[in-house]
Amino acid sequence: MKILENKRELDELLAKIRTNGTKIGLIPTMGSIHNGHLSLVENSMKENFFSITSIFVNPTQFNDLKDFKKYPQNKKQDIEKLNTVKCDAVFFPQIEELYPEGIKRKKTISKYRDILCDKFRPGHFDGVTTVVKSLFDIVTPDAVFFGEKDFQQLKIIKELIKKNNLPIQLIDCPSVRSKNGMSLSSRYNNFNTNLEIKEWLKNSAFLIDNLCKEYSLDELYICGGTISADAKDSIY
Ligand code: PAF
Repeated sequence: MKILENKRELDELLAKIRTNGTKIGLIPTMGSIHNGHLSLVENSMKENFFSITSIFVNPTQFNDLKDFKKYPQNKKQDIEKLNTVKCDAVFFPQIEELYPEGIKRKKTISKYRDILCDKFRPGHFDGVTTVVKSLFDIVTPDAVFFGEKDFQQLKIIKELIKKNNLPIQLIDCPSVRSKNGMSLSSRYNNFNTNLEIKEWLKNSAFLIDNLCKEYSLDELYICGGTISADAKDSIY
């Protein structure tokens, strides 16, 4: 697997592989690679894309600086895990390459924005679309792979591609779940004990309960948040 530490190294590689018409598949991540990410890579490889996983913990999508600072990071372990599925390349962009105009969010997508997560995490999706658009500009992928787990994110990125007329195919892949049914997420690495998991689930259940009082099931399904696409069947 090629390890690309900056845009210059990425550009050199892209220049080489583009000459024979190779198509690029991008898997954007914030690292702390788990089986969910690996299944995105496998999907990309299966479709014969030259598969590039990007790893960058994006400051502009966090509402809380503490949350950003304690986001789990383990470069060596991430590289080892990506090697197990024979990912073609891993890209660690530098912050100034993704944010050449300074570290700020741009509001580009308005659709779906007045509901659910946005209400509780103002600016989060602006941070996501800002960094994802930068990654698209730098990597120029032919296809991009996202998990259905982040259903609202998926919707917003579809809109980003449409609005900017980008020649990028968005491929959404089913969530990978642990034995207890929870979809895998890097965030869970922050939980040290079962008690913390229980506490987090209790808070989520409380939030969902409030959302159910405020929104119709259709609205909840369209912008699912913690309610994933496949939860629809169990709700109805
Ligand atoms: O889903 C994530 O890990 C992040 O939101 C993404 C898409 C990599 C942007 O930072």
